[in-house]
Amino acid sequence: MRILLFTGKGGVGKTTAAAATALRLAGRGHKTLVMSADPAHSLADALGGGPIGDRPTEVGSGLMASQVDGLTRMQHHWIGGGTWPAITDWLSATLSAGGLDPIVAEELTVLPGLDELVVLLALGEEVAGGLYDAVVVDCAPTGQTLRLLALPDVLDRYLERLYPTHQRMLRSLGLLGRSRPSDSTSGPMPRGREVLALAVHRLHESLAALRQILTDPAITRVRLVLTPESLALAEARRAATALALFGYAVDGVIVNQVADDGELDLSAMPIWVAAWAAAQRRVLDDVPASFPELPVRLVNHLGNEPVGARSLDEVADQLYGASPDDIDPLAGPDFSALMQVVADGGNYLLRLAIPHARSSEVTLNRVGDELAVDVEGHRRLLALPGLLSRCQIVGAALAEGVLTVRFEPDPDRWPEDLLRAATRAGGR
Ligand SMILES: Nc1ncnc2c1ncn2[C@@H]1O[C@H](COP(=O)(O)OP(=O)(O)OP(=O)(O)O)[C@@H](O)[C@H]1O
Ligand SMILES: [Mg+2]
Repeated sequence: MRILLFTGKGGVGKTTAAAATALRLAGRGHKTLVMSADPAHSLADALGGGPIGDRPTEVGSGLMASQVDGLTRMQHHWIGGGTWPAITDWLSATLSAGGLDPIVAEELTVLPGLDELVVLLALGEEVAGGLYDAVVVDCAPTGQTLRLLALPDVLDRYLERLYPTHQRMLRSLGLLGRSRPSDSTSGPMPRGREVLALAVHRLHESLAALRQILTDPAITRVRLVLTPESLALAEARRAATALALFGYAVDGVIVNQVADDGELDLSAMPIWVAAWAAAQRRVLDDVPASFPELPVRLVNHLGNEPVGARSLDEVADQLYGASPDDIDPLAGPDFSALMQVVADGGNYLLRLAIPHARSSEVTLNRVGDELAVDVEGHRRLLALPGLLSRCQIVGAALAEGVLTVRFEPDPDRWPEDLLRAATRAGGR
């Protein structure tokens, strides 16, 4: 099973590239699902067939498509077949029994970002179902996608921390001590704490599993789509940094809507066309240097909107070649070591790829057993492996897109014999 995510600035061609790739994969015999995770769905329009619902529908031979409806899913069937509505009812009943206005109480049970989370869980469900060889995800524009992809990490930690606190808080409010609220708040009354605990636990587990799948470069790859415009390129570069920070493997760049493949005689063009094409050329020249480690594929501006299988096939031909022996849409560069820990002279070095970041933009903070890496407003909390959690950070450097953090065993936290062994191993 492989997962390909397509993201980039608004309007650059994410949906077009995702749909064309899914069609090509299906055409080459892979059972494929193309899934829109963008709340402003346009996958059905791009495919040019009938409507596409929240659940996968067949749109071609070997090709299924779905447009996840986060809001409806959230309202009707979230987590463990209806557990969530039961929890929200219980929470709002409990909170209003505690004296809160029922409307305010209901509002409080809606977590922000929940509809996005539902989209992720929908992806997790399809992956777990194991029906497909490939799942192609048409993502929302970059900012939203980054929030979505940071969610498993962020929410998982949030739940981990919130849950005990949350229990204490409810108890201190006298809400957990009560066997059940008054009859006026009855209604769906799950076994309170246990149901809540179970749901939080389940959510925690689904998120951890999802995070593992999405950050496994052998399964999930992200493709950045841009147009040859400086803003789209800048956004793609920032996305590459943030995605790497969160542990996602970006394995390709697609430059779409290229007006001039280098053959045009610009002097024979109307002035605005010539200026547009020349501006595109300047950006195109910068693309390979921005992503030196990644394959860059170009798609021409087709002159009309690529809607429907025939036009999308043309896009796929440009991306992957027309013959089955050409580029495999699933193939990409090897990413065996996005994050590495290596021994070095009695110390340990943690290496993390964060392309395009400048050292002035990177901040490191040790928070207990975690390392907080902040890059331009994005924060990744890296859980330090046991070995490193017993070390002190003694240095850090950023060079050629790789952040290296030096850890030195902390004698106070290391048993004497282990420390000697580590020093010996490192010194070798
Ligand atoms: N190579 C191309 N040539 C001509 N038109 C194109 C090409 N690629 C995409 N388009 C058109 O550009 C518009 C935007 O493309 P698309 O919907 O794929 O972008 P998107 O990145 O998914 O946008 P959004 O951010 O709104 O989801 C569409 O009308 C699409 O048909
Ligand atoms: Mg789109």
